[in-house]
Amino acid sequence: MQRNDPCWCGSGNKWKKCHYPLGPARDFSSLALEYRKQFGILLKTPEQIEGIRKACRLTADILDALCKHAQKGVTTEELDILSRKLHKEAGAIAAPLGYGDPPYTKTICTSLNEVICHGIPDQRPLQEGDIMNIDVSAILGGYYGDCSRMVTIGKTSEEKKRVVDVSYECLMRSIAILKPGLPICEIGQVIEDYATAHKCSVVDLFVGHGVGVGFHEPPQVPHHYNDISIPLAPGMTFTIEPMINAGVRKAVIDKEDGWTARTADGKPSAQWEHTLLITDTGCEILTLPPHK
Ligand code: MF3
Ligand code: CO
Repeated sequence: MQRNDPCWCGSGNKWKKCHYPLGPARDFSSLALEYRKQFGILLKTPEQIEGIRKACRLTADILDALCKHAQKGVTTEELDILSRKLHKEAGAIAAPLGYGDPPYTKTICTSLNEVICHGIPDQRPLQEGDIMNIDVSAILGGYYGDCSRMVTIGKTSEEKKRVVDVSYECLMRSIAILKPGLPICEIGQVIEDYATAHKCSVVDLFVGHGVGVGFHEPPQVPHHYNDISIPLAPGMTFTIEPMINAGVRKAVIDKEDGWTARTADGKPSAQWEHTLLITDTGCEILTLPPHK
C-alpha cells in the first residue's frame, strides 16, 4: 500500500489520512497495536530492547572471536566447535542448531566463495584466497541477535575483493538512512543502486527480517528493488544482510543438504549483516563488534 492509496479499512480515505501508522504524536502503545494489526510487526518495549541489546552484544562478541580464529588451515568444522563452546560459556543457545526443515545441523553458517549463505561447516580447511561469511545468531535470555561478517584468507582476487567491499558498503549505506517514517523499500533502493553501480547483483531469494523476540519475525526487508511502503517506527528491530554477487543474482539451493545456497554461475558472493533498532531519531546498530 502506498501513502495515497485508499485505506485498507474501506473508509474511502487515503491511507495517509486514515490508518497510516505514523500520524502526529502517536503514543507507543497505540502505535504498537497498529503495527501488530496492520503488519504483524512487534514494536519492542524498553525491557525487550534491553534483552535484545544483550543478546546482540553477545552475538557480535562470538562472531568477532570466530573471525579472529578463521585462519589458513583451520576447518569450518573447527569454527563451529569454537562457536558451540562460546555459546555454552555465555549461557546462550545457537539459534541455527535444529532450525528449519531439514533441521540445520550446526551452530553457525560458514559461506565460502560462491556460496551465498547457509553454508554448513565441514572438514574443508580454509585456503589462501578464500572469502568466507560467518553468520552467528545467538539466543540469550530468550532474546535473539543476528549478525555476520566476511573474512578474507591471505591474498584474494580483485573480483572477490569487489564483492566483499561492495556488500559492506551496501550494508553501511543502507543503515545510514534509517529513521522513523522511512519506507522499507528505501533500503533496497540504496543497496541495489550501489551494487549495480559497482557491477554487482543483489540476491533476491533471501531477505533481511524482523528479529529479537523470534528468530525471523515480520517484516521482510528485501535488499533488491521492491515496493514495501511500511514506514519504520521506533522500537522495530530487524536485520539488514545484503548478499551481493559478482555475476548473476540467481541462487541455487543444494539438493543434497537442502541449505547451501550458491550462485547460479559459480561466481563469488559476499554478505555482511547487522541487527538494528529504530530509535526516535534514527537507529542503533545492536551488533557492533566489541571495542579493541
Ligand atoms: N542470518 C541468517 C538468517 O537470518 C542466519 C541463518 S541461520 C540458519 O537467515 F539456520 F537459518 F541457517
Ligand atoms: Co539474519
